[in-house]
Amino acid sequence: MATRLFHISDVHFGVENRAALSEVADAVRAERPDALVCTGDLTQRATHRQYAAAEEWFGQFDIPVWLDVGNHDMPYYSPWERFSDPFRRFRKLMRAAAVEALETDDLVLIPLLTTVSAQWRWPWSDGVIKRSALEETAKRLERFRHDPRTIVVTAHHPLHGPKAGGPNRTIGGDAALKTLAERGVNAILSGHIHNPFNEVRAAGRREVQVIGAGTLSTRLRNGAPPSYNVLTCRKGAGIEVETRIIGKAAHSS
Ligand SMILES: [Fe+2]
Repeated sequence: MATRLFHISDVHFGVENRAALSEVADAVRAERPDALVCTGDLTQRATHRQYAAAEEWFGQFDIPVWLDVGNHDMPYYSPWERFSDPFRRFRKLMRAAAVEALETDDLVLIPLLTTVSAQWRWPWSDGVIKRSALEETAKRLERFRHDPRTIVVTAHHPLHGPKAGGPNRTIGGDAALKTLAERGVNAILSGHIHNPFNEVRAAGRREVQVIGAGTLSTRLRNGAPPSYNVLTCRKGAGIEVETRIIGKAAHSS
């Protein structure tokens, strides 16, 4: 037996791709994966209407739904709320449609917050790993220090920099990847860049598999079509990634 997860990201309700969402929902019903994971940017502008659409869509499934918060999921038109309680609307969605913890016989999922409502540089949409966020994730990891299962951290922003080199746009990403690897994390799931990937990255003296899902919105980047990942994981092993292009046959990597 193995655990199968559908990994989607960047749905951006408000500018969502309806055909893509229908295809994923049909696949969930037909194939019944163990969980549906969405690594953030659930909405376009975090309006109540967009959150209601997200709640209706994610709430339709009878399998566990796992959600991360993205930079688009904090109020855009309500600056007071953005700075006083940026994740209030996201927490309401979590209560309505998602689980707070997820473990199977093969893997454990732990979230890492990479989204901030403001920062000392532009754009604010880039990821930042605050010390408090990393400590929170590390605290949750403590329970699984000697666990033989595959330990997976989920985040909206990729923690690593570009493959070709150049600066890492996620502040604190390299250090966080190393810290997490040292604490036994085997894989990181993320979104944000609207392009799927599956790589192994060195992190200190260890290696971490980094997996990104594409978008299910109409905001396409660098020519990448809408897509999602099907992840298959056996206890303590690496994760097999099948990237499904919406409307096309699947391919594996
Ligand atoms: Fe994003």
